[in-house]
Amino acid sequence: MASKRPAILPKVLFVCLGNICRSPLAEGAFRARAEAAGLDVTVDSAGTGDWHVGEPPDPRAIVTARTHGLDISGYRARQVRAEDFDRFTHVFALDRENLANLRRLAPAGHSARLGLLMDVVPGMEGQPVADPYFGGDEGFETTWGEVDAAAQALVEQLRG
Ligand code: 4NP
Repeated sequence: MASKRPAILPKVLFVCLGNICRSPLAEGAFRARAEAAGLDVTVDSAGTGDWHVGEPPDPRAIVTARTHGLDISGYRARQVRAEDFDRFTHVFALDRENLANLRRLAPAGHSARLGLLMDVVPGMEGQPVADPYFGGDEGFETTWGEVDAAAQALVEQLRG
């Protein structure tokens, strides 16, 4: 199937707190869904916090991604920076606290669309992607279900 090319290549950044649990799973899910749809995109993830900078995703996130056929073990955590708000066309926060922090960090007049990730999923508007970091392994599967639903919906939106 021919690859669909929007006028502006979407560049999507997913942002959570630590960049080791939720946003790497969102990055992996969206990358896979976009590739399957033949949609050309740039994708990355980052954290608003700096505690895990340079680290791979949480081992539980790596296992969850692997269960769904993805290898995210090569990802490395980084902190969001001011230029991200102009380098990316879309910046999605995984929950409201991170969205509020992103709004504070965003330079005036930035070009990226800034929003809550689950707002792209019909019926899930306003919902956070729950943080699985302090819970058990099953929380990561719930996170996967949410970010993959968002990845599918986003691909549909972007291919118009
Ligand atoms: P994430 O999860 O924001 O989904 O990557 C967390 C990772 C680390 C911490 C909190 C949440 N932490 O407090 O170190």
